Amino acid sequence: MRIMVTGGLGFIGSQMVRWLLDNEPDVDIINVDALTYAGNPANVADYADNSRYQWIHASIADRAQMEPCFADKPIDAVINFAAESHVDRSIQSGVPFVATNVLGTQILLELARTYHVPRFLHVSTDEVYGSLGPNGLFRETSPLQPNSPYAASKAAADLLVLAAARTYQQDVVITRCSNNYGPYQFPEKLIPLFVTNGIEGQPWPLYGDGRNVRDWLHVEDHVRAIWAVLNSGKSGQIYNIGGHTEKSNWEIAEDLRAILGLPASVIVPVPDRLGHDRRYAMDAQKITKELGWEPRIAWEDGIASTVAWYQQHEDWWRPLKTGAYREYYRQQYGESGTTRAPSASR
Ligand code: NAD
Ligand code: TYD
Repeated sequence: MRIMVTGGLGFIGSQMVRWLLDNEPDVDIINVDALTYAGNPANVADYADNSRYQWIHASIADRAQMEPCFADKPIDAVINFAAESHVDRSIQSGVPFVATNVLGTQILLELARTYHVPRFLHVSTDEVYGSLGPNGLFRETSPLQPNSPYAASKAAADLLVLAAARTYQQDVVITRCSNNYGPYQFPEKLIPLFVTNGIEGQPWPLYGDGRNVRDWLHVEDHVRAIWAVLNSGKSGQIYNIGGHTEKSNWEIAEDLRAILGLPASVIVPVPDRLGHDRRYAMDAQKITKELGWEPRIAWEDGIASTVAWYQQHEDWWRPLKTGAYREYYRQQYGESGTTRAPSASR
């Protein structure tokens, strides 16, 4: 089976690549990644020479770059992770979010149809549902009420994917997952930012009153869920994925403080994020009932092993925090989106 993974140099996409190469011997992977600031070849460094793996440096938002990736050899499935993914950056400017998340998804859908790719799995997010009050859960049937430019671009992409199913009977599935944590997450997101700041002796900027709630899931549980949906999900369906682990940002900070042995003074309240969603929480009964998926990694174990990973991999995250990383990879690989012939980019 030949799978195109897009965004496979990012946090979750690289976990998918590593997991597939480790666990599914019949899978070959073509990883299409534009190497934005969030993409990092180090995330799959141990697999770079694997004969079942190939990275193509291309942007999903550039049809001319993408077409050869589809034309090269038949592809059995696309898993679309590629995205601009950080809410705070989308508040600065939504333009790259629309370009990759919306236009890029539409280009992929069209090419997947042209080249008769049997299944298209689109990786979406709980953020498309908007914000919950203190009670209730998001279901697959909940209305789309995105609040940030990031969430709006993801919701737009979801609608294009569903439209492709209705208009062309294209075989698509959508997964909507809650907040992920684990190794290789770019240190601009809450957990890796706090852990690495803690190791560096820097403060933890807690937005607003710190009572915003997210539903946390270990990234390995997420990729197992995606694999289940890709193989057994019903065509045209949406599957929520969640960890049954609701935590306020205060609680996260307290858990991290306990693991790292830091004083309460490390937490520094800062002005709130604009339009900050109050609470996300998933009803993931459908994927459990239909496909038998359940989270396996308990929060206490997952967060302890995640902190240990960042403690043991300073060589991975320190350059990302200095900017030296961007410069290094620009010199090494050129500007993001540079076209390379598929055979030349192994
Ligand atoms: P990430 O920012 O760590 O990685 C994104 C990857 O996409 C990077 O490797 C980047 O280089 C690549 N990319 C960006 N623009 C591209 C383009 N135009 N063409 C090709 N590649 C491009 O993101 P992540 O946290 O791994 O998220 C992956 C997907 O999962 C996203 O679609 C995101 O919306 C979704 N998601 C994330 C979470 C989470 O908690 N991180 C939760 C639910 C869903
Ligand atoms: P984040 O990791 O950016 O994920 P998302 O916005 O997709 O949920 O943020 C998680 C929560 O942590 C969110 O409520 C915002 C908050 N947060 C902080 O309080 N301080 C920070 O420095 C960051 C990055 C996030």
